[in-house]
Amino acid sequence: MRTLIQNGTLVRSQGIEQADILVENGFIKRVAPKITEQADNVIEAGGKLIFAGFIDTHTHFDLDLGVTVTADNFATGTRAAILGGTTTVLDFATQDHGMTMQDALDLWHRKAEGSSCNYGFHMAISEWDGERAAEVENMVAQGVTSFKMYMVYDAMRLNDGEIYAALKHMNALNCISGVHCENYDVLNERIHELNSIGMRSPLGHPLSRPNAVEAEAVARLMRIGELADAPVWVVHLSTHEGLEEARRARARGQEVYLETCPQYLVLDDSRYGEPDAEKFIMSPPLRKPEDEDALLSAMSSGEIDVIGTDHCSFTMSQKALGEGEFSKTPNGGAGVQNRAQLVYTYAVRTGRITLQQMAALLSENAARMFGMYPHRGVLQEGSEADITIYDPAGESTISYKTNAHHCDNSPYEGMKVYGSVSDVLLGGRHVVRDGQLVKEGKGRFVFRKASGRYRA
Ligand code: URP
Ligand code: ZN
Repeated sequence: MRTLIQNGTLVRSQGIEQADILVENGFIKRVAPKITEQADNVIEAGGKLIFAGFIDTHTHFDLDLGVTVTADNFATGTRAAILGGTTTVLDFATQDHGMTMQDALDLWHRKAEGSSCNYGFHMAISEWDGERAAEVENMVAQGVTSFKMYMVYDAMRLNDGEIYAALKHMNALNCISGVHCENYDVLNERIHELNSIGMRSPLGHPLSRPNAVEAEAVARLMRIGELADAPVWVVHLSTHEGLEEARRARARGQEVYLETCPQYLVLDDSRYGEPDAEKFIMSPPLRKPEDEDALLSAMSSGEIDVIGTDHCSFTMSQKALGEGEFSKTPNGGAGVQNRAQLVYTYAVRTGRITLQQMAALLSENAARMFGMYPHRGVLQEGSEADITIYDPAGESTISYKTNAHHCDNSPYEGMKVYGSVSDVLLGGRHVVRDGQLVKEGKGRFVFRKASGRYRA
């Protein structure tokens, strides 16, 4: 089976050029200014932007929080992902207390069967001891080379000593570790303070977790990483102050990777005053315009590595399980389908980053950082034909009603976006055609190598 994408504009981190792409048997066979070979399927891409398929570094599908399970499972979440141009999601397989990592990995493999985009797993760990440590090598042997630890949530948090030991151990096995950075003890104390003055509405959420709650935790993680002599990856960085702490660590010579999310670039904490504000209850919370500006600048200067969505969707009735109390409302928001449109509209079109940087932030850096490069993340001969075609023409309005995710709300509801994903090839298969998902369930597990560690 051969597919020819012709007359498109290739966007790669190193530059932009007019070129054709010939895909054969699932791989990119040729990239050249003009390809005249015959193909079974010809995609006319004049005026469109061709990217290596986007990689979402942070999703939570079918995640059981105890009180409820995310609205999106892999079937619905990956349909939304691929329609948004994401060809690979890295979801967090979660090792709950009393489970082995192998239990969690087996469970996540079962959950992800039949996905519509490719998927890999980070392993989120809730315990650190000799038994868990002994499992890491086995995870690597099964293509899981990245791990996540939480400084928050009673069911998940590790203490600083455990994080230190885990960082050291993961590093010795060429794995990379991400950490959810917030000071849990302080934020809980602030929740009590807010509750005691009757502040229980969503307006209390950002007050309970102000910027310093994140910045203190990032600073601590940086020092723990320094002591462990290990690279660290800060997941969903949201604040200017947290960014400053990461900069300090880099200035000391540390290897630090930074992920942010669209919500921290385009939404701010004024949203907590809106009538349906529960949908914005996520952690970290939405911040101030100054933080958005700092993160956009850091994307432009190359200090941010990747943009993941942290898609963790709940319906409004699930959000209502919190009975109007911010501290009891399930945390998380939907966004897996909207990442490319948001970044294109609010970062590229506004002149904050270039198209080449968009390619790096949404695809290439993730492929490097998480052991998928050059198989994925680049448009080059020999790479897997995961390809996203973005049509920059036209404008639309984001709505949960038109999103494919299985959730009756979107934090981005009503926001105007420019351009859309017109076509997607997944392993050479033309799965999205003219904006419609024409082949479902074609995603495969992505076995990953050790991290590319490009900041080492
Ligand atoms: O609020 C969020 N982000 N929920 C998902 C879990 C996490 O903390 O990443
Ligand atoms: Zn998350």
